[in-house]
Formats: sequence, C-alpha cells, structure tokens
Amino acid sequence: DWTMASYKDEAIRKIRDQVGDRRVICGLSGGVDSSVAAVLIHEAIGDQLTCVFVDHGLLRLNEADEVVSMFRDNYNIPLIHADEADLFLSALEGVSDPEVKRKTIGRLFIDVFQREAGRIEGAEFLAQGTLYPDVIESVSFSGGPSVTIKSHHNVGGLPDKMGLKLVEPLRELFKDEVRALGRELGLPETFIGRHPFPGPGLAIRCPGEITRDKLEILRKADAVFIDQIRRHGLYDEIWQAFVAILPVRTVGVMGDGRTYDYACALRAVTSVDGMTADYYPFSHDFLGETATRIINEVRGINRCTYDITSKPPGTIEWE
Ligand code: XMP
Repeated sequence: DWTMASYKDEAIRKIRDQVGDRRVICGLSGGVDSSVAAVLIHEAIGDQLTCVFVDHGLLRLNEADEVVSMFRDNYNIPLIHADEADLFLSALEGVSDPEVKRKTIGRLFIDVFQREAGRIEGAEFLAQGTLYPDVIESVSFSGGPSVTIKSHHNVGGLPDKMGLKLVEPLRELFKDEVRALGRELGLPETFIGRHPFPGPGLAIRCPGEITRDKLEILRKADAVFIDQIRRHGLYDEIWQAFVAILPVRTVGVMGDGRTYDYACALRAVTSVDGMTADYYPFSHDFLGETATRIINEVRGINRCTYDITSKPPGTIEWE
C-alpha cells in the first residue's frame, strides 16, 4: 500500500528527529499496538531501542515464548523478558475482587517495569503504542466525573515518574491503520489479526480466586477453543473469543467413574469497538464438537457452557 509505505517513512524520519542518538525503552505486551510501535522504532533507530516485556504469568498458552522468539530471535530487537509470574501470582493469592485484581496487577506491573527500565543506562525516552482513540478518550475524560467502569491497566504517569520523554509514533492512527502499518513492517498476518487481549490477562477470565491449577486448565481449554475457531475459518469474523474457567465444580461421568471438576464458559462476540457486542451465533454442531473436545482433551474440566449475553447489559469479559 503506497500510502502506508510513505506514512512509514515519514514516521521513521520523525522518530529519528525526536530521538537523535539517545536511548528509548518500549514496553512490549505482545499486543498489536506495542508490537507495531516497537518494530517501527527499531527500524528507525536500531539498537538504541530496548524492549521490556513484563510477563505477569497471566498470558495464554505459549504466548510469552512467542513474544520472545518473535522480537528477540526474529527481529533481533534487544529485549528484557521479566518473568515475574511468581511475584504476580503470590500477590493475587486470595484475591477475588475484580478491581483489586486489576489494581494489584497494575501496581506490580509498574514496579517491575520501572525496575527493569532503570537498568537500561542512559534511557531518555519511553515509547508507547498510544492510538488516536486513546488520545481522544483521555482528553474527553480528563477533569470530568469518573466514568470508568473498569479501571484499565494503564501505565499513565509512568513517564513523568521516571523522568522520561514520550515517543508515541501511532498517535495519529486508528486500529485498522496500525494493522496496515504492521503489515508494511512485515509483521506476520496471524499476529496482526489477533483478537484484543486485556492487560490483566487471564486474571479476569478466572472469576474468583486465581490458582496456578486453574490457570493451567484455562490455558489448555482456551487453546482448544481458539483452535476450533481457526479450523472452522471463523477467527476473523469474531472480535474476541476466549474461555473463562468458572469458580464452581460440578459432577460428571467419565467411563465407569464420577468426576467432580470445573465448569467453563466459552465466550465469543462480534463488535466494532468493544463498547457494545453481540454473542457469536455458532452452529450447534460447532458448539457440541467444541464442548466434546474441551472435555476430552482438558483434564480438570467436565462441563462446558456457551455465554449468550450481549453487551450491554453484560460485559465482554467475565470480570
Ligand atoms: P468489557 O469486558 O468491559 O471489555 O466489555 C471491553 C474491552 O476491553 C477489554 N478489557 C480490558 N483491557 N484492561 C485492558 O487492557 C482491562 O482491565 C480490561 N477489561 C476489559 C476487553 O478485553 C474488551 O476488549
């Protein structure tokens, strides 16, 4: 795409002008926005960029490894992988309130990020994958009454606290433009087209108390569900799809025996911007086949439900 190619060149020139020969830190989440920002900035200033990937232990199956191998091994971008699952999961022990989960994760995220960024000598800039809609939202909400329904995992205030200047090369772009820019930069299509994933990760897909056991079961079930969706060619029709592991165990039968395992809920929605959403109308065959696969393939789950709530009144996530 000619337009995006020239946009890219222009964005690279601006980054070079702003940064000169100084060092930049970029927080990498594995999401499209921060990934596109990182690859773009790396193209502009090479190894003056260091990425920091705070791994809270609440990512999906193989996700952390994929982030590391893509950025460090494939793009050769200097990357610090802060594997802090123990820290986050022990702080979350006994926590079941969704907002307390978010705040706990947000606070630790900032601590870890700050600690790791502090090790990058002479860094003067912090890169963020802020998009145009984020800019609008933060302007229209500032000073007004607090209308936040869920406290999103944001690192606002961090650059000031750390004495860093911001680099925000995606500030003028909408999501579809960021995707086009990502393609222009050669990011793989499977990566660009990925469903959004919330900052607090699987914590808010595990209603009630989080345990390592539940997370492991959840990761496996989620991977089966997504595999089913991809096999049936439905991934791109869906805004977000995931499994939530429910805080309830139910009775089932398996062979001659009785099981007493977790129930899970499948969630898949269509949406334009995440503000409203409809549940995805899977065929009964698809649902039946998926439930059978999850229960057969994932030890620890013996019951599968499909969430048919729209937003509003429901939310997309379970917490
Ligand atoms: P809800 O559940 O509010 O979600 O309908 C709307 C969109 O926001 C995402 N979401 C979050 N993203 N931190 C995030 O970064 C959060 O705490 C959070 N809560 C929800 C959700 O995945 C959906 O895309």
